[in-house]
Amino acid sequence: MTAKNMDELVALCKRRGFIFQSSEIYGGIQGVYDFGPLGVELKNNIKKAWWEAMVYENDNIEGLDSSILTNPLVLKYSGHEDTFTDPMIDCKSCNLRFRADQVPDKCKPEDLTEPRQFNLMFKTNVGPVEDGSNYAYLRPETAQQIFINFKNVLDSTSKTVPFGIAQIGKAFRNEITPRNFIFRVREFEQMELEYFVLAGDDDKAHDSWVQKRVEWWEKQGVPIESIELYDVPSEELAHYSKKTIDIMYKFPHGVEELEGIANRTDFDLGSHSKKQDNLKIKSSVRINSHSNSKLAIQIKPEEWTVPYVIEPSAGVERAFLAILNEAYKLEQLDGGKTRTVLNLKPHLSPVKAAIIPLKKNNNDIVKKAREVKKNLQKLGLGRIIFENTGNIGKSYRKHDEIGTPACITVDFETLEDDTVTLRDRDTMSQKRLKIKNLANHLVNLIAG
Ligand code: GAP
Repeated sequence: MTAKNMDELVALCKRRGFIFQSSEIYGGIQGVYDFGPLGVELKNNIKKAWWEAMVYENDNIEGLDSSILTNPLVLKYSGHEDTFTDPMIDCKSCNLRFRADQVPDKCKPEDLTEPRQFNLMFKTNVGPVEDGSNYAYLRPETAQQIFINFKNVLDSTSKTVPFGIAQIGKAFRNEITPRNFIFRVREFEQMELEYFVLAGDDDKAHDSWVQKRVEWWEKQGVPIESIELYDVPSEELAHYSKKTIDIMYKFPHGVEELEGIANRTDFDLGSHSKKQDNLKIKSSVRINSHSNSKLAIQIKPEEWTVPYVIEPSAGVERAFLAILNEAYKLEQLDGGKTRTVLNLKPHLSPVKAAIIPLKKNNNDIVKKAREVKKNLQKLGLGRIIFENTGNIGKSYRKHDEIGTPACITVDFETLEDDTVTLRDRDTMSQKRLKIKNLANHLVNLIAG
């Protein structure tokens, strides 16, 4: 059973320190959130899982971490200055502004203005003079910096197609109506791969990436039953796309896009290239009079081609929400009790293990527990917590609720035979284990 409604997830996130409203003490800022102590761990673990699956498991994929501030020319030639817009409508009665497809029923048609196009990019001034002539955009997608670094990566890594460039980083969109908690926000992170192939190999590569991405989601605890593939109809395609498959997920507020996998053709590399006439570009690119680079590969002497691009693009916040929603369970226990548990995949859990001394004032037990914590922490598996509340039951409940897969209790027996009690989050079963075997146990648990 997934979460009944978004409110339960929002309450858990606030109560346990996953997510807070940004600038909360000053009334907040709409569509912007902060990730708390557990949120940052879960978020980092999601990004790590993506990075490992992309960059470390594929020798033909390289990483990039590019700037957020973007030269306006990049977004001119990418098409964002002209087309990255949403139609907005004002309601003259409630004085609010909505995306044209999200006007609430309470607004009467006679109170609504005609739709006007609104560009979603954030602009900022660069340097000390604020006369509007020196501005940059906060990138609306991480993809463009990948395209404009195509040559740099190619030349420095001696790659040839097919190859990919992966990036995780912030993107900013001045959404007209941010909503549904972290689903639609103004500041978010994307995990994007641009996978370059020869024209003609693009359809097959596209199908293959859709398949791989669905498999990845399953490994993160988002099962195939909660996913739908949406073949975006031509009239809804972005200006650069020949075909896009959206991975749709059953969020608490409805079925919506979790990740988009687009065939961006040769549009982006072609649009950012100089001397476009010599490159046999197939899509209708923007004529470029500023670029000083040919974003193409040489296939024969005198013959250049602009690769096609397959782009799996996922939002970290949406991943967070889907993973949390799937993991969240309210279980009925014997005796009419309930427990809240996050059945997160252990590699995603914010805390991997809690080390709990049975008696918080017993120096020998506490010392031993600290030693266990220190040694397990050294394994580099993620966060191991020393939890000295003196209340085992309360500690178990807390760690169930934040998804800690293992609780390890150090007691009097430990001092005699070097064993501990290991409690499993999902089954709540307990067993004794030698301290020397804990490392192996945790490594296997987290590897899945
Ligand atoms: N580079 C392609 C691109 O940006 P997109 O469909 O606009 O395509 C890709 O965005 C992904 O980024 C989406 O599937 C979603 O997961 C995430 N995303 C987009 N806008 C978002 C927003 N306002 N808040 C949170 N996530 C967002």
